[in-house]
Formats: sequence, C-alpha cells, structure tokens
Amino acid sequence: MLELPVNDTILLKQLQPEHAPALFMLINSSRKLLRKYLPWVDYNTTEEHSLRFIELMQRKADEQDAIAFGIWQDGQLCGVIDLHDWDHPLQKAEIGYWIVEAKQGKGIVTQSCKALIGYAFAALRLNKVEIRFVLQNEKSGQIPIKLGFSKEGILRQSAKLHGHYVDMVVMGMLRQDWKY
Ligand SMILES: CC(C)(COP(=O)(O)OP(=O)(O)OC[C@H]1O[C@@H](n2cnc3c(N)ncnc32)[C@H](O)[C@@H]1OP(=O)(O)O)[C@@H](O)C(=O)NCCC(=O)NCCS
Repeated sequence: MLELPVNDTILLKQLQPEHAPALFMLINSSRKLLRKYLPWVDYNTTEEHSLRFIELMQRKADEQDAIAFGIWQDGQLCGVIDLHDWDHPLQKAEIGYWIVEAKQGKGIVTQSCKALIGYAFAALRLNKVEIRFVLQNEKSGQIPIKLGFSKEGILRQSAKLHGHYVDMVVMGMLRQDWKY
C-alpha cells in the first residue's frame, strides 16, 4: 500500500477495501455539503458503493490510470485526494479532493495537494498536473491559487450538477515551475 507522509499529523494512504466502512461514514457525515459540487455523492448511498469505488480505483492504479488516497489526520480518515486521467504520453494527470466538513478550512487539503504534486513530479515523473473545479466553487479554487498554479481557461458547460450545466475552471502546474 502506497503511503505519502504530508507532515507530523497528516498521512496519505492508498485506499484499501477495508477502508470502505470508514469512507462511507465520512461521506454520510458531510453529505449535504459535499453534494453541492460533487455529483457522485447522491449515488453513494451504501457502504457497498464506497467499496466499489475503492475497488475501481485499485484496478485503475494497477493500470496506472489513477491513484486514490485517503487523507488521515492523527490516525483518522478525514477525506480523499486522487490523481486521475493519467495521460502517459503527455505525462499529465488531474488531481481531485474533498474533506469532511469538520476538518475544512485548516489547510489539510492544500498540504495534501502539495505532497501529492511533489510525488507526481518526482516519483511519477509527470510534467504537468491540472486541477479543475466548478467556477462557483471558490473554496476549491483557492487551493491551486495558493500553490502557484496558472489559470488556463474556462471550459463552458463542461459538467452537469443537479441537472444544470456548469462551467469548469482549469488550472495547471508544470514541473519546471514547481517551487516546493
Ligand atoms: C474545497 C475543499 C476541498 C477545501 O479543503 P480545505 O482543507 O478546507 O482547504 P484548505 O483549508 O487547505 O484551504 C481552503 C482555502 O480556501 C479559503 N476559503 C475558505 N472558504 C472560502 C470561500 N467561501 N471562498 C473563498 N475561499 C475560501 C480559505 O481561506 C483557505 O485559504 P487560507 O488557508 O489561505 O485561509 C473542501 O472545502 C471540500 O471538501 N469541499 C467540498 C467538496 C469540494 O468542493 N471538492 C472540490 C471539488 S473540485
């Protein structure tokens, strides 16, 4: 199991099937907040759904298409961060993230992104990392801004949220510009 230390208290651990009950409890505890910008939340209604997600991400990791990590703080699972849409010829991938409501606003996701991006550039030899978020999701947008990403554009009506098309902001970081 892949583990990436973030700091003294935060650890990223690749999600395993035995994490499904804790993951499902976490989603349930912040369902109202998470569903605002994450459309899959409404379809994750049983522990079995969380298990299937973890198994899918394990298969994708085997195929080097994605890697999903749980974010553990002081030994407690509190969110998920992943690398997906891994394009090998281009050496590029996207990062996605969410964290339970009670742990938001403490810099945990920003710190976790920093560790994962460092790993992606140094160990996976990626050349570029992208973060995409719904235009209205300013809180999510603050993370790539704080990490020095460049805004690359807006993809109009490129996602559907609760029956409505929404615009997506694309932010990018090149390995040559990564300062951490
Ligand atoms: C977006 C999310 C991942 C942020 O995680 P987090 O751990 O709370 O983020 P951090 O604490 O590392 O950083 C958040 C930054 O946003 C800023 N912020 C907080 N609320 C904000 C708001 N309403 N508008 C703009 N910025 C905001 C904070 O000031 C903080 O910056 P600071 O460290 O300079 O104070 C988390 O809120 C979340 O899981 N949201 C629901 C799911 C989601 O939207 N996922 C992203 C999909 S792209």
